Formats: sequence, C-alpha cells, structure tokens
Amino acid sequence: MNIVTVLGARPQFIKAAPVSRVLRQQHAEVLVHTGQHYDENMSDVFFAELDLPQPDVNLGVGSGPHGAQTAAMLAGIEEVLLAEKPDWVLVYGDTNSTLAGALAAAKLHIPVAHVEAGLRSFNRRMPEEINRVLADHAADLLLCPSQTAVDNLSAEGLTQGVHLVGDVMADALLWATERAPTQSSILEQVGVSEQGYVLATVHRAENTDDPVRLRAILDAFAALEDSIVFPIHPRTQARIADLNLKSQIANLNAIAPVGYLDMVRLMQAARMILTDSGGIQKEAYWLGVPCVTLRDETEWVETVQSGWNVLTGANTARIMAVVRDFVMPGVRPALYGDGQAAERIVAALYG
Ligand code: UD1
Ligand code: UDP
Repeated sequence: MNIVTVLGARPQFIKAAPVSRVLRQQHAEVLVHTGQHYDENMSDVFFAELDLPQPDVNLGVGSGPHGAQTAAMLAGIEEVLLAEKPDWVLVYGDTNSTLAGALAAAKLHIPVAHVEAGLRSFNRRMPEEINRVLADHAADLLLCPSQTAVDNLSAEGLTQGVHLVGDVMADALLWATERAPTQSSILEQVGVSEQGYVLATVHRAENTDDPVRLRAILDAFAALEDSIVFPIHPRTQARIADLNLKSQIANLNAIAPVGYLDMVRLMQAARMILTDSGGIQKEAYWLGVPCVTLRDETEWVETVQSGWNVLTGANTARIMAVVRDFVMPGVRPALYGDGQAAERIVAALYG
C-alpha cells in the first residue's frame, strides 16, 4: 500500500512518529510537510530526534490568515496526490494542515484516514473545532483515541469506518520517557530541580489573540510563588511583544520552544503543569502530574473527570487558587489506550 501522510504542525510530528515507524515496516509512505510550522525548534528538531524520516515534500506554506494558509496547502497537496495516487491519505489532529489534507484527498476520491477523530470541544469559535468536524466528515477511516470520541461521531451520524484505537500520543510518550532522563539536560540548562517548578505553555488563539485573557494568564504566572518554566510558542511571543507585556514575564524562566525529549523531561519533573495545549493535558495525566487547563472547556473530558485536570479559564484568581489548593487524587485510571495505538492504526488501514 502507498500512503501519503500530511502534517505540518508540532503536535503532528510527535503523533506521526510512532505510526510512521510501524507503517514503514510493510508499506510505502510519502511524507508531505505543509510548512505550517517552520522554525527550527517548531519543526526540524522533531524530525531529528523522533526518528521521523525527513519529509519527501515540503510545501513551504508558512504562516498566514486561515483562508490563505489553508488554500495554499490545498493547492500544494492536490498536486502531490495527483502525482502519487496513494491508496490512503493519513491526517492527524485538528490543524489547518489536517483540514487541507482531508479536503484535498476527498475531492480526488482518495480515501482519508483521520487519526484523533471524534474529539469535540463543542465550541465552534475554535479554529480547531471547525477543522476536526470537517476532517471527520471527509474521512473514510475514523481512528478514535477514546470512547467519548466514538460517541461524539455517532451523535453526528458517523458510524462507518470508526475504530477505537487509543491515543498515539501515549505511544510517543512511552518512547520518549525511556530516553528523556538520559538524553536531556534541560533541567540543568534552565537551572531547575525535580519538583522545584511549575511548567507553563500558552498558545491557543482564544488566549493569545484576546489581550484580556492573555494579560489575566500572565498576571497569574507573575503572581505565583512557584518558579515557572515557560517555553514560549512563537505566536505567544509575538503577542507579548505587540502588547508590551515583556515586563510580565521578566521574572519567569521564559525560554524558547524546546524539542520533545526536553519537553518530556520538563513535564516529568514539574510539580504541576499549567497549559492550554491539547496534547500536554494528556501527557500530564499519563505522567501523573497535576494539570491546570487555561481554557473554558476541553476535549479531554476524562482527565477532568478523574480530578487530575482542572479547568480555570483565563481567570487570574481561579488559576492561583487551583495551583495553591490542588489535591492529588488517590487513583489514576488508565485512559486513552495502552501505547499500542500505532499498531492498531496500521492494522485498520490494512484491513
Ligand atoms: C497551530 C494549530 C493549533 C495547534 C498548534 C500547535 C491551526 C489553526 N492551529 O496553531 O491547533 O494547537 O499549531 O502548536 O492550525 N509561527 C512562527 N514560527 C513557526 C510557526 C508559527 O513564528 O514555525 C508564528 C507565526 O507568527 C504564526 C503564528 O505563530 O502566524 C501562528 O502559527 P499557526 O501555525 O498559524 O498557528 P498556531 O498558533 O501555531
Ligand atoms: N511540546 C514540545 N515542546 C514545547 C511545547 C510542546 O515538544 O516547547 C510538545 C508537547 O509535549 C506535546 C505537543 O508538543 O507533545 C503539543 O503541542 P502543542 O501544545 O503545540 O499543540 P496542541 O497539542 O495543543 O495541538
């Protein structure tokens, strides 16, 4: 079988790595990088350290408004698909690269497999929600990480080609937790020790592009007594500069985005994680690190139900209260699979 995989953003490199490893044992894969993320520390570092083959094609689309960015991806992907004529197009998650890959393939009648199908925030103002709904409805194979995701699809009438495979991010994390403690020296580089800091990330448009929300989140970071390690996404870095908020982060350990092994090391050793990332909410859960999610809702509802993840929105007082008063639950039930999702995904493609 010939597979074209379309990816373009940081979390997709991480998700694709375990699947690619299994896929290439028996099948041919052409890797198409849209170029949505392009900084060395948002793209190249992941290919280098995750054992992910270099892209066969890089469309070099870069940043831009949603319409222009997605349109440029669509045109580029279509050309590749016409030349490659693959048996499947494989897309991951909910970014503009996901939507472009799914739509370009569906229009050419090439079957689409969507990894991380069925996730919903039920907030249509999120660009990711539009991308995931449309990708799911264009897909022939819907590869779900949770029963909730299967149920969400069923509620939208999608029951054909739906497989509960577990979460590929668990596969990726297992691979990295074996390596991070020996291969990463990030704790020494940043100057923090085990359990001696809180790790924070912010990049969601709803937080970065709303000055009130961004200020409220940074106010909480600045007021917390803990040492904060804050790897800053380029989108957030740009907004902090635009809004003259540099003084807000002056006392934080603000660093550039880090590679995956460094990130896993930083998550493993953190006392707590504050984030609006989708992937990091699950990684915190798997690693047994309490998580505060700086959003009003989450797709990963099971982490909240378990008591390990608390939604605070962008409310300064609430963020501070939850960081101060968090009580670790006594149990942490297994969620989102067993780290064997990649095998199930490849089996579903093959079957
Ligand atoms: C994208 C996804 C989001 C995902 C995130 C993962 C969409 C709509 N959003 O958000 O779902 O959670 O990736 O990180 O697809 N930039 C750089 N260098 C880069 C990449 C981006 O400077 O390598 C800056 C540019 O100013 C750009 C901004 O970040 O305009 C936003 O990048 P973009 O890819 O549009 O969205 P993300 O916020 O990264
Ligand atoms: N990540 C990383 N370096 C960083 C920040 C995040 O390797 O500096 C990893 C993180 O551990 C997770 C993934 O990137 O595996 C999540 O990406 P992001 O938060 O950008 O996107 P989301 O999951 O919200 O779509």
